[in-house]
Amino acid sequence: MNILVIGQGGREHTLAWKLAQSPLVQKIYCTPGNAGIAQIAEQIQIDDNFIALANWAESNNIDLTVVGPENPLAAGIVDVLSERGLKAFGPNKQAARLEGSKDFAKQLMLKNDIPTATYKTFEDADEAIAYIEDIKSPVFVKADGLAAGKGVIPGRTIVDATQAVKTILVEKAFGDAGNSVVIEEELIGEEASFTVLVDGQNCLPFVSSQDHKMSHDGDTGKNTGGMGAYSPAPVMTPELHNYVMDRVVYPTINGMASIGCPFKGVLYVGLMITDTGPKVLEFNCRFGDPETQVLLPRLKSDLVPLLLACIDGTLDQHTDVQWHTEAAACVVMASGGYPNTYQTGKVITGLAKTDSDDGVTVFHAGTKQQGENIVTAGGRVLGVTALSEHLKLAIEKAYHGVSAIHFEDAHWRKDIGHRALSRTKS
Ligand code: AMP
Ligand code: GLY
Repeated sequence: MNILVIGQGGREHTLAWKLAQSPLVQKIYCTPGNAGIAQIAEQIQIDDNFIALANWAESNNIDLTVVGPENPLAAGIVDVLSERGLKAFGPNKQAARLEGSKDFAKQLMLKNDIPTATYKTFEDADEAIAYIEDIKSPVFVKADGLAAGKGVIPGRTIVDATQAVKTILVEKAFGDAGNSVVIEEELIGEEASFTVLVDGQNCLPFVSSQDHKMSHDGDTGKNTGGMGAYSPAPVMTPELHNYVMDRVVYPTINGMASIGCPFKGVLYVGLMITDTGPKVLEFNCRFGDPETQVLLPRLKSDLVPLLLACIDGTLDQHTDVQWHTEAAACVVMASGGYPNTYQTGKVITGLAKTDSDDGVTVFHAGTKQQGENIVTAGGRVLGVTALSEHLKLAIEKAYHGVSAIHFEDAHWRKDIGHRALSRTKS
């Protein structure tokens, strides 16, 4: 098979890395790719429109297109490819609203009695502010649409929440993604990521994982795409797993099917494990980044038949999926300043040394080849990932890998996995 991977992050490098291990795969292409993906896939540049992409896929005999990020999914890439008879992994435009519109997701949850924070949606700033003044409790203010993971603003005081509403609805900091805001109660607890493959009707849950969203140690600083991840996440006990399947995953899949919008692809549920049980913070319609960097190295089975089964509606035939028992940890090395402004073009050294460490893999995110050198080209630069029998050792191995890699102003968190480690200690 020839496979085309869409995207350029650590998630897409991990997908290409895992797909390349399949005996079914002859050749992998990636667009736009990065310097790490270029080592296992042919990087191609295609005009930034889906028709050009479909033309290219057709003339290059692509058997499967795997879409990494949410933006092309929400814009209907899968619809365009499937109309041409090309297999594409991911939800269509209607189903991708689960991530593309927070109000749509909340309405679906409300209708299907899925546990989540109470909320209200507003288009008018004065009405939103009046609501905040009325309820007087800490809230999260969220742009309805896609905002590259930046559209969620904590409003723990009336002043902060009011400012968040103005930023989104009046100043239009996220453009049309902020034509409406969802204001929801603050949930307290520990977060976990729940990843499920879905074929419209059947589903296959992955092992658990947890990412670290804040930029600095002790979960301080700013919200980022994710500064590291680990799997399994001990917070997700077997009981909670079953609860999430029964109360969240199946009601979501069935709820989407019942409105004529069957969901196919990755359903990523962001959860807050509160004192009264897990509640949904968000749905994503694609693999998590950097969760993928710890999930796919733990997957022993071939990924290709699973992705095809999602498209064909035959996931129920895959009851024998195997996982490695080892734990996985990923430490993200970012450009100094991320998630605010940062410089790029810094030469990265030490990659070969880390890649030769047993059980350590360096997944590239914002990197590019420049002459002889690999240089930084984004906020999150690398995801140094390690597997080991115990999470503690996996974390140590990942940090050992990090210590050999250098680029100017590199920043990484030193406490990846702290929640899991403190649980195992207690
Ligand atoms: P989201 O993109 O909706 O998952 O929000 C990004 C991050 O904001 C989440 O991972 C949480 O850390 C935080 N967050 C979002 N909504 C809430 C909420 N209702 N209560 C507490 N934290 C939240
Ligand atoms: N790591 C969070 C996300 O992928 O949205």
